[in-house]
Amino acid sequence: MTKATIPGLLQMKADREPIVMVTAYDYPGARFAERAGVDMVLVGDSGAQVVLGYDSTVEVSLDEMLTLAKAVRRGTDAFVVCDVPFGSTETSDAQALDTAVRFVKEAGADAVKLEGGGAPQLSRIRAIVEAGVPVVGHVGLTPQTATALGGLRAQGRTAESAERVVREALDVEQAGAFAIVVEAVPAEVADLLVDALKIPVIGIGAGKADGQVLVLHDLIGATEGSTAKFVKQFGTVGDDTVAAIAAYTAEVRSGAFPTAEHGYAATDEAVAAARAALGR
Ligand code: KIV
Repeated sequence: MTKATIPGLLQMKADREPIVMVTAYDYPGARFAERAGVDMVLVGDSGAQVVLGYDSTVEVSLDEMLTLAKAVRRGTDAFVVCDVPFGSTETSDAQALDTAVRFVKEAGADAVKLEGGGAPQLSRIRAIVEAGVPVVGHVGLTPQTATALGGLRAQGRTAESAERVVREALDVEQAGAFAIVVEAVPAEVADLLVDALKIPVIGIGAGKADGQVLVLHDLIGATEGSTAKFVKQFGTVGDDTVAAIAAYTAEVRSGAFPTAEHGYAATDEAVAAARAALGR
């Protein structure tokens, strides 16, 4: 595979070639994403709910995210972006930089993603970019601070909210991000950002933008329960997996599995030695 580069991603925007990003949280997910030919892999903090079973992204720790990121890096040579989890940047620019450096040095991240576009986040983005670590911004619905936004709900639907989304996106670009995720924002507002920003706008529930990102488990049909309005399910991996485990369960219980073809042949001497060792 040809690994995406930042100039290459900017060129894709210029050429109106859609950028494809998908999340992954482990080695097989990263292998699948690479084999499918995506441009970028995001180790999203959505992994908190998707693979670690937490109720929200807020709960996942930096060490847990690093473990997921390392597994993803082992599985792919693609451009890997890692979400910095809640609590790993909030204290100071120095803390944010330490976190970003850990993702690069320990997990081989190509870039980190930071949510939000308020003054503290802009300062964090500048500090990380100045240190040489590429940053992806994230505005609109920012799950780490969803409580302050009134819950996991679409943003940019009122004049005040649309103005905030646009201002934050412009500021995030100005702070040095090389791309920005815009989540759960009306397409009309996101389209304005696509035109106004030089950097690629990666949409999720934000129209076509310059590209898309989806959570892997949502798109393959491995998420239990309801998913966000912006999710399209492209596969039935959850149902297929349950069916496979149920078939295995039934065959073990009926004695149909395993058969000789799933085992190993022994010499007569080996069997005799095992008998002798048991005194039989
Ligand atoms: O954590 C995540 O998966 C994300 C995407 C939804 C953009 O941030």
